[in-house]
Amino acid sequence: MTTPAPETLAKLTPVLTKRWLSPDAWRLDTYEKLDGYAALRKAIKAHPDDLIQLVKDSGLRGRGGAGFPTGLKWGFIPQGDGKPHYLVVNADEGEPGTCKDLPLMTHDPHSLVEGVIIASYAIRANRAYIYIRGEAVHAARRLRNAVNEAYAKGYLGRDILGSGFDLDLVVHSGAGAYICGEETALLDSLEGFRGQPRLRPPFPATHGLYASPTVVNNVGTIASVPYIVLGGADWWKSMGTEKSAGPMIYSLSGRIANPGQYECGLGITLRELIELAGGMQPGHNLKFWTPGGSSTPLLTAEHLDVPLDFEGVAAAGSILGTTATQIFSDQDCPVYATYRWLEFYHHESCGKCTPCREGNYWMVRVYRRILAGQGTQDDLDTLLDTCDNILGRSFCGLGDGATSPVTSSLKYFKQDYLDYIEGRTAPKLSDKQLVGAH
Ligand SMILES: Cc1cc2nc3c(=O)[nH]c(=O)nc-3n(C[C@H](O)[C@H](O)[C@H](O)COP(=O)(O)O)c2cc1C
Ligand code: SF4
Repeated sequence: MTTPAPETLAKLTPVLTKRWLSPDAWRLDTYEKLDGYAALRKAIKAHPDDLIQLVKDSGLRGRGGAGFPTGLKWGFIPQGDGKPHYLVVNADEGEPGTCKDLPLMTHDPHSLVEGVIIASYAIRANRAYIYIRGEAVHAARRLRNAVNEAYAKGYLGRDILGSGFDLDLVVHSGAGAYICGEETALLDSLEGFRGQPRLRPPFPATHGLYASPTVVNNVGTIASVPYIVLGGADWWKSMGTEKSAGPMIYSLSGRIANPGQYECGLGITLRELIELAGGMQPGHNLKFWTPGGSSTPLLTAEHLDVPLDFEGVAAAGSILGTTATQIFSDQDCPVYATYRWLEFYHHESCGKCTPCREGNYWMVRVYRRILAGQGTQDDLDTLLDTCDNILGRSFCGLGDGATSPVTSSLKYFKQDYLDYIEGRTAPKLSDKQLVGAH
């Protein structure tokens, strides 16, 4: 394990993660001792429109993957329309490799609860939901406990802190489906239907939960709000880059010495993140990595110095996504990794549209053939052709995302595919695993 240089260590900017190591950080009394609910006391005295403007000025962009400007999204909620408004926090965190929202809710649930109250006040919502994936039992327990503590202290419920503002917050556990992280499928699931994406327009801003104006935001997005209220827009913008402002939790996994969450200003590079994580594991050299989960095109050792912000990663031909950097070495096989991801997309495809439902089904079978040593050169064309028919033709982002590892691994690692096809690499799958592959 290597020790990071002081100038690299200085790139750590613990903001959302700053309380995670404090003993009992999830309890209300600890949270209050560490500035907790100070932002709410300040925000509740401000005009809701000023809070929306503050979030706009901060440059905060959604932490759920697409990077949509948060203040702009809040501003889309029609005011004075006489309808109920809703805030829905997306805590589904299903993207492979992503692990930032669950630790936040486990270690510092009150920061999310406080963010929910401020955001709801800003968009004039009197009911908010946190939709958390069903398997996340521990995080949900901590969150429910935090919500109960907040009610008991008058931060939730009627006439919050004497302001006249009422808010009820419900923590809802989903059943554990990747598609329920897609915001409109999430809303259907929350309403009690099978989670499948809705046709857009109309958008959730006008026709969201129960056909009413709704903001859907990621956990990290909403948990950022109290810090922006306390620190101000300029302080927030002092971290990150001009167009990608603020700190970001990068989840590092794979062949590195110290996997985990590293919070740094947007725009840090993978070279620096690996240094912060103590370097690669002994005997491993970087071969490929995902900048933001498996739905983002793979990058390689050539891309170590790409700034990991929305613009920098896009310029390198990928997507920042959820900043889930999964790091693979020369001892890992990009063909096999892509196959495993495709098994996931195939399993999680909701089946609503043909390109994704059928395309992923067929691609899994082509991969099985290649990995069993029975593939042909034509199979590589079939994969690209199938991706061509999924990308941009699917009903939601799951289909598009599934093509990312396929096209990018074929772009950078075609030789690894040919080595299976031409017999230089021993098959990884047996004939028994080939059922239905032809
Ligand atoms: C298949 C799929 C899965 C998604 N899963 C999540 C998720 O688990 N958490 C999340 O915040 N956003 C997820 N998203 C993105 C949401 O649709 C939405 O853009 C996001 O919640 C908006 O919040 P933000 O503006 O704060 O980023 C997913 C999108 C797709 C297409
Ligand atoms: S792209 Fe896949 S997950 Fe999305 S609607 Fe179509 S079948 Fe369902």
